[in-house]
Amino acid sequence: MGNRLQNKVAVITGGCSGIGLATARRFAAEGARVVIGDVDKENGVRIADELDGGFVEVDVTNAAQVDGMFATAKSLYGGVDIAFNNAGISPPDDDSILETGLDAWRRVQEVNLTSVYLCCKAVLPYMLEQGGGSIINTASFVAVMGAATSQISYTASKGGVLAMSRELGVQFARDGIRVNALCPGPVNTPLLQELFAKDPERAARRMVHIPVGRFAEPDEIANAVLFLASDESSFITASQFLVDGGISGAYVTPL
Ligand SMILES: NC(=O)c1ccc[n+]([C@@H]2O[C@H](COP(=O)([O-])OP(=O)(O)OC[C@H]3O[C@@H](n4cnc5c(N)ncnc54)[C@H](O)[C@@H]3O)[C@@H](O)[C@H]2O)c1
Repeated sequence: MGNRLQNKVAVITGGCSGIGLATARRFAAEGARVVIGDVDKENGVRIADELDGGFVEVDVTNAAQVDGMFATAKSLYGGVDIAFNNAGISPPDDDSILETGLDAWRRVQEVNLTSVYLCCKAVLPYMLEQGGGSIINTASFVAVMGAATSQISYTASKGGVLAMSRELGVQFARDGIRVNALCPGPVNTPLLQELFAKDPERAARRMVHIPVGRFAEPDEIANAVLFLASDESSFITASQFLVDGGISGAYVTPL
């Protein structure tokens, strides 16, 4: 238990699993009031109870539901200091551009990119009104480098999240609002487990490129989000915050 987020209100999308869940627990342990927004009602209610926080059933592609999520946080706890816009998908039908159909492309763009636009658009007025805030949008290391094992829409969506975060970080810097793009390397979560269980060869191929030699654990990413959310990162905005086990710095990896 600490107090690095004492008196802060945080909204976390995709907080029922993986990176979002680890972050919700970390934030709560540091004193934040946490509101989780997710499609997973059953787990959401249980986790909110565990954290003595709030849960809003929300599909992050739905503008009215996203607006309602932030309005609920404001009415429950009086404001929104931190928005961790993190919900995302990585479905198997998003693959090489040669195989990926328009429906799969559009679905991933909606959930991964349009959702971040909607969340930022909805939360910024609250932050402007209160004179500050920290927005962390989950991109990925694939936003900054190409993968041979392509998921074309996913990669393009994360590039969009990075570019949008950078621009918002610049635009709102003098309003005291920081906007950063979190760029994790591969993390040991259901999203990745599902993808690689179907394709062990693809998993092995990824591992070759990670200097640290393993996937991240969700807690390791949550620690980075905590830093970006807290006032300790007060001079960091518009950044691509890579937490990738050295992937983006590697030419070759050690054996
Ligand atoms: N796992 C990785 O290796 C990895 C690497 C880089 C980036 N990321 C990104 O991190 C984020 C979280 O990934 P994760 O691995 O924790 O995934 P996860 O599948 O473990 O959790 C995703 C959560 O988002 C929720 N969700 C999905 N669609 C939603 C929707 N339309 N509306 C509301 N909630 C929805 C799910 O119910 C789930 O609780 C994603 O944006 C993902 O792209 C993951």
